Amino acid sequence: MLDNELNNLRQTALPAIKVADAAALEELRVALMGKSGSVTALLKSLGGMEAEARKAAGAEINLLKTEITEALTARRTLLDAAALEAKLAAERLDVTQPPRPDPTGAIHPLSRTTEEIAAIFSAMGFSIKDGPDIENDWNNFSALNIPEHHPARAMMDTFYLNATFGNRPAVLRTHTSPVQIRTMLNQTPPIRIIVPGRTFRSDHDATHSPMFHQCEGLVIGEGITLGHLKGCLIDFLSAFFEIPNLPVRLRSSYFPFTEPSMEVDIGWNRKTGEIGGGTDWLEIGGSGMVHPNVLANCGIDPRKYQGFAFGVGLERITMLKHGMPDLRPFYESDIRWLRHYGTSPLTPASLHEGL
Ligand code: DAH
Repeated sequence: MLDNELNNLRQTALPAIKVADAAALEELRVALMGKSGSVTALLKSLGGMEAEARKAAGAEINLLKTEITEALTARRTLLDAAALEAKLAAERLDVTQPPRPDPTGAIHPLSRTTEEIAAIFSAMGFSIKDGPDIENDWNNFSALNIPEHHPARAMMDTFYLNATFGNRPAVLRTHTSPVQIRTMLNQTPPIRIIVPGRTFRSDHDATHSPMFHQCEGLVIGEGITLGHLKGCLIDFLSAFFEIPNLPVRLRSSYFPFTEPSMEVDIGWNRKTGEIGGGTDWLEIGGSGMVHPNVLANCGIDPRKYQGFAFGVGLERITMLKHGMPDLRPFYESDIRWLRHYGTSPLTPASLHEGL
């Protein structure tokens, strides 16, 4: 009686499983192994049997159960693989199709510089941050160790706004350094960031624009030294100017937010304008070891953590790299200038291709 049932089930279930599609397979699984499935019913019937008979029947039923389970799994695997194949075939994308360049578009040299800097520093493990153009005077000055009546505050020709920001007087940020503060207030060391962005000063002539761009760098950790700063700047500058062994000089200076502070100079030839050659030096930014007061202002223990920071002018290094004589066309949207100095959008900045 039981043998018959087992045989019938085996003869109908196994071939049915072999040809089922996904939906039918699930239906079969429920009909066989579900709560009121036929295999489950057989197992339940064991309860009413004598011990001896139950042992023999139990072995038989479990054997069938295993066969059915294996058949279900095998079919499911086959159907899944087929479904994936079909999906891949349907979503096939021909990446060999050549792009169609738009002959009128170009990347602005400043955007290009920003992309290149991002590529170089990403490879060194930095992440990229930004902050608002409108700042309050605490982030822009006080937290950076520039006290209220200190002459350093007057050194930057600040645009003050007739407004407040975070309960403090609002300014157009005069440098990207306030993003150091924003980052240190919100992140615990180790910190390794660069901040490319717009900056503003009330200053206008052939080499100054009231709106210009800087890139800040900040590294905070345990045991960070001036050696790390110098190595980092050398690697960055020689990658950016694409000159191996570019001469880089750190020259003692003063910034309120660093101690010691240094101007960053690169070697060039004043007569020919050639970068990396000659015996002259050209200043391209400021740098130093983050002042303990700045760390403390941001709730970072200066006895445990040290760090370095730097800031470079993006127009400045862009002009130097491409031999541009004048700053003003950067913001004039002159299509002839953009065609001449712009880069194709199809050549993204990449260290693999060389910048
Ligand atoms: N914030 C300075 C400026 O705009 C540049 C600068 C100097 C930034 C030294 C730094 C630094 O981070 O360490 O003139």
